[in-house]
Amino acid sequence: MPRGLYKFIWPFVRLLDAEQAHSLALFALKSNLIPVPKPYNPPELGVSLWGMTFPNPIGLAAGFDKNAEVFEKMLDQGFGFVEVGSVTPRPQSGNPRPRLFRLEKDRAVINQMGFNNQGHAAVASRINARTPDGGIVGVNLGKNKDSSDAAADYEVGATIFSPLADFLVINISSPNTPGLRALQGQEPLKELLTRTIAARDGVASSGGHTPILLKIAPDLTDEDKSDIAKVSIDAGVDGLIISNTTIERPDTLTDPARVEGGGLSGRPLFEMSTRVLSEMYVATDGKIPLVGVGGVEDGRGAYEKIINGASLVELYSAMVFAGPEIAETIKRELVDCLKADGYESVVDAIGAKHR
Ligand SMILES: Cc1cc2nc3c(=O)[nH]c(=O)nc-3n(C[C@H](O)[C@H](O)[C@H](O)COP(=O)(O)O)c2cc1C
Repeated sequence: MPRGLYKFIWPFVRLLDAEQAHSLALFALKSNLIPVPKPYNPPELGVSLWGMTFPNPIGLAAGFDKNAEVFEKMLDQGFGFVEVGSVTPRPQSGNPRPRLFRLEKDRAVINQMGFNNQGHAAVASRINARTPDGGIVGVNLGKNKDSSDAAADYEVGATIFSPLADFLVINISSPNTPGLRALQGQEPLKELLTRTIAARDGVASSGGHTPILLKIAPDLTDEDKSDIAKVSIDAGVDGLIISNTTIERPDTLTDPARVEGGGLSGRPLFEMSTRVLSEMYVATDGKIPLVGVGGVEDGRGAYEKIINGASLVELYSAMVFAGPEIAETIKRELVDCLKADGYESVVDAIGAKHR
């Protein structure tokens, strides 16, 4: 299928129930039905972090490829890196359907998935089989709904995946697992990070350790945010991902599906998540790299995340509306934004708003 023809097919995919459309998208990717663009990674988009070079800073956020089935296809679509998961130790089916809603009018998504995934073993075997040097792949770790020791789930995840993945993400910010976000509190967070990082260090190879990033919610008090910054730096976290979906429902929403419970993502999350990103850049004093996520749908949005402090950017919801071609479009627009403001590279623009 020629590139561009896809634009005509996508609207029909959107007529399907949101979760069916997601399954169809995975099928189409696995079956090579989605055309692959020519690689476009000009040197000004390269970012070196944690001993790796990201060919561009636009990544695929967690939740699209929960079971590590299409990460290589998404790298082929032009993403600079892919985060698979969230994955929990044991497989679990998640919440009852329907649990995924498109808010077409608001360019937003609400999900109440609840960590449906095939579990560590299935995901580990797929990551293990990947092509060496085939691109940067992170694994986002979650906990089972019925687990009695949350930190133990993350310890096991770090032990299994740190030899396999390029980076790990501790996700304690999804709104659909009861009690999960309470782990962002100072004391539970300290314990969780200390235990997970120790588990990672226990399997560290001579090549150095696998970076561990912490993914946080946008719905945090000022006290939460300053505690998270301090505890993360003290514990030796390698980066923060800001942010997960929000439980808020801004007044601007007009789509009837806005009444659904769960996490809201996409356009209405942009401002809120960018504000938290900016605050965390200040709170961490630029000491740990930040990944900006939430409502990015064009190069300008990615650029805003970067000047507010993001070293890397991720997206998911915008792809629901625009298809995977979005990675290519954003990269080209981002180059234009950098040029227009006189930056020679992404790296020069990181945190520029704070200078
Ligand atoms: C359907 C769906 C499933 C998601 N699942 C996960 C998940 O398993 N783990 C996670 O950390 N984030 C998950 N997210 C959150 C995204 O990774 C991202 O943080 C959020 O959607 C904001 O980015 P966006 O506005 O570009 O979508 C999910 C989001 C959506 C829409």
